[in-house]
Amino acid sequence: MEYEVKKYTVITGASSGIGYDTAKTFAARGKNLVIAARRKDRLDTLKCEILKKYPAVDVVIKPVDLSVLENVYQFYSSLRKLRLETWINSAGFGNYDSVARQNLRKIDTMIRLNIEALTILSSLFVHDYKDVPGTQLINISSAGGYTIVPTAVTYCATKFYVSTFTEGLAWELKAQHAKMQAKVLAPAATKTEFGNVANDIADYDYDKLFGTYHTSQQVAAFLLELYDSQKTVGIVDRETFSFKMYEPLFPYAGSSAHNQKVERHAAANEKVLLEGQSLSLQSREWDI
Ligand SMILES: NC(=O)c1ccc[n+]([C@@H]2O[C@H](COP(=O)([O-])OP(=O)(O)OC[C@H]3O[C@@H](n4cnc5c(N)ncnc54)[C@H](OP(=O)(O)O)[C@@H]3O)[C@@H](O)[C@H]2O)c1
Repeated sequence: MEYEVKKYTVITGASSGIGYDTAKTFAARGKNLVIAARRKDRLDTLKCEILKKYPAVDVVIKPVDLSVLENVYQFYSSLRKLRLETWINSAGFGNYDSVARQNLRKIDTMIRLNIEALTILSSLFVHDYKDVPGTQLINISSAGGYTIVPTAVTYCATKFYVSTFTEGLAWELKAQHAKMQAKVLAPAATKTEFGNVANDIADYDYDKLFGTYHTSQQVAAFLLELYDSQKTVGIVDRETFSFKMYEPLFPYAGSSAHNQKVERHAAANEKVLLEGQSLSLQSREWDI
């Protein structure tokens, strides 16, 4: 008798804010979940909430600090026994300060989480699942990943990275006729713990400081809209707060001839070695 293999949606940063509500939104769709963040108590609460409403859903908890590279590899390896369907990188944080004054301990952690962990997890997931129909990678960038916001220059730069990396990956997957879709969600101000963390305070007041903002439930609904669409970018307009979906937005140097070259390069370069903890992409020099 044939039975269907259980598939999972992985959500990092699921202990709070956008990740937390995205987990509930995907559970409502009947999706089994892997939820990850540092605070295990919050993940336990989320799991209880989900199981109360959707008892048929399987929820796997993974407490992990993703700002530590070794943990990132271990976290991915711990999921190898599961069949994954969707990967959502929501774990991330911001910082408001000038470049001259910014706290470099906080900044180096932010770069490791927002850029390093997201890149490694995306690459491993793409390596293993790019040819599996129905798979999706959704990376959470920001409206600040398309527009530079004063006093948040370094944070915005990390999110420009997320946007360009994910848009570039989307082009690459299309050129390779891969089955996986890569997408970017770029929310604007959203009432979460983000404000507290970015400002190093305990009671950041979105109502006082922002005329308009979204709730994390609204942003989770945008994410689901992007998930259901064929578009690559879902972005909240910083002026109107409307949500719109687009094809990739950054200038792209690819042409159809270039894409064929990408395809040939990818075919010649299929061999990705996972050596111990490190991912080594066996790559040849080629002109881009
Ligand atoms: N809120 C906004 O206005 C806004 C706007 C645009 C984009 N975004 C982006 O949206 C994403 C989600 O943020 P949010 O607004 O939902 O903020 P949030 O409520 O602060 O959630 C951030 C999540 O990231 C997790 N996280 C932080 N450091 C981590 C680490 N070292 N290892 C593992 N997980 C870690 C947190 O969990 P633990 O603390 O338990 O680890 C939490 O679950 C972020 O990428 C953020 O940059 C937010």
